Amino acid sequence: MDKGTAIEDRFGRRFPYLRLSVTDVCNFRCTYCLPDGYQKTGEEAFLSVAEIRRIVEAFAGMGTWKIRLTGGEPTVRQDFCEIAKAVASVPGIRKLAFTTNGYKLPERAGAYYESGLRAINVSIDSLDPRKFHEITGHDRLDEVVAGVQKALEVGFESVKINAVLLKGLNDDELDGFLGFIENRPVSLRFIELMQTGDNLEYFRKHHVPATVVREKLLARGWHLLAREEGAGPAVEYAHRDYQGRIGMIAPYAKDFCATCNRLRISARGSLHLCLFGEGGHALRHLLQDDGQKEELQETVMRLMQVKKISHFLHNGETGVRKNLSSVGG
Ligand code: 5AD
Ligand code: SF4
Repeated sequence: MDKGTAIEDRFGRRFPYLRLSVTDVCNFRCTYCLPDGYQKTGEEAFLSVAEIRRIVEAFAGMGTWKIRLTGGEPTVRQDFCEIAKAVASVPGIRKLAFTTNGYKLPERAGAYYESGLRAINVSIDSLDPRKFHEITGHDRLDEVVAGVQKALEVGFESVKINAVLLKGLNDDELDGFLGFIENRPVSLRFIELMQTGDNLEYFRKHHVPATVVREKLLARGWHLLAREEGAGPAVEYAHRDYQGRIGMIAPYAKDFCATCNRLRISARGSLHLCLFGEGGHALRHLLQDDGQKEELQETVMRLMQVKKISHFLHNGETGVRKNLSSVGG
């Protein structure tokens, strides 16, 4: 039996959106995230398809209707499509999204769509093949761009590109990025680099405030779109000469946390109430049997009472997060 109540915190925020990490493993080595590549942590296996299904059933019973599969790189799991199918078939889930580095996307986009995935976010931090290689450790820009094209062709309803803003690496590429979305119905998200435990020096060197891009966009005739009801922390811009849109994700901006509408589950089944500064609350023991659903829901409801109003990153807190590969950004 479902609790019949929507998840809500002490500040009146609702959480229709769950980001579910299915693995910590990533096959790329983005310089801001895993510069030395993925290092194995812990012996415990990642969540099984059945455990993932139980989480989603419990959350769907508390008002969650959007799920994003993240990682690490979620598609490195052999059973990724099986996971997607299990999640897509849970009653109440209206939107299934995933985030990927675009690895093998041209071959696989069709299978992803057929598994029930309808929204895709692909990371492309540079449109210069050499810099893409330098940032990710992989010479795969052409493949990833072809993958974006393929995702549009096979019918993905939402295709987004994530680019982390990096001083000295891609902060001179705005016009290239704008050219990319001129005739493509995709939303390009500029994400302000976040400081993590692993990237302190890197952060000092490469952080650019999103406001720098905002000024340039306004100067080029882009205008701010009204926020849609229930939208997350991204701010969106449009331009009549462009098919695509620009989104800005600025976690250091004032009020960023006010629109928080998401919760996170780690690949080993812990609930993270915030991306930063928060160790996670183990739920895995409540994912072992379908009969535990109600206890799981009650536990989540109780944990919501300790969710804080903001991440307090302004105080230079990096949180305990070493990098974002374990909770999927
Ligand atoms: N700052 C901002 N975004 C990050 N990501 C990972 N690490 C960081 C960071 N330190 C995001 C990027 C990437 C996605 C997988 O996670 O958007 O595209
Ligand atoms: Fe992998 Fe994403 Fe981290 Fe890059 S940012 S190393 S693609 S998890």
